[in-house]
Amino acid sequence: MRVLGISGSLRRDSHNTKLLRAAGELVEQHGGQFELFDGLKAIPPYDEDDDIGYGPRPVVRLKRAIAKADAVLFATPEYNSSIPGVLKNAVDWASRPLATNPLRNKPVAVIGASTGMFGAVWAQAELRKVLAAMGARVTDVELAVGHAHEHLDHAGHPIDAGQAEALGDSVVLLLAELQQLEMAA
Ligand SMILES: Cc1cc2nc3c(=O)[nH]c(=O)nc-3n(C[C@H](O)[C@H](O)[C@H](O)COP(=O)(O)O)c2cc1C
Repeated sequence: MRVLGISGSLRRDSHNTKLLRAAGELVEQHGGQFELFDGLKAIPPYDEDDDIGYGPRPVVRLKRAIAKADAVLFATPEYNSSIPGVLKNAVDWASRPLATNPLRNKPVAVIGASTGMFGAVWAQAELRKVLAAMGARVTDVELAVGHAHEHLDHAGHPIDAGQAEALGDSVVLLLAELQQLEMAA
């Protein structure tokens, strides 16, 4: 079970990237493999004129990483009540061609953190909508870490027991979705 983590933040000390790393530890505790995608910043702005053949090299890297993974876990911050542009841009690239995009039928889950009160709930909801429109199998998980600077430790583990449990449940649900799909195949 290979899980790819994609953080919507490029920031070095990103709460979302740390949260993903913490999730990755749980994936590995359940016998899976976890890889964090680190190429988001290199992805150019989407231009349909450049979307020919395999597309630009950083996009090929993204699409290959998604295709190689059995499931994808996103952690997104919220910028002005929505998905950060860099993440939306990457997802737009990944969505083409729509019929054969690498996220189609792939189990995905979305979690998120923000320094505001609500833990990026709107950005998460929008990202789930976009992923569903691309044909991904969006797992029904919920984890919104508000006031992330206070509610995550230095390594991204939720301090609150309820949120730590919700992170564990998110990972378990994503892996269960994946196992169900493998059994049906
Ligand atoms: C351009 C911008 C817009 C933001 N808008 C929101 C927002 O709408 N809601 C919110 O809770 N936090 C907002 N924030 C604060 C982010 O939650 C905070 O910067 C957070 O740490 C970003 O996630 P990261 O730590 O993973 O980089 C915004 C930050 C930036 C830079």
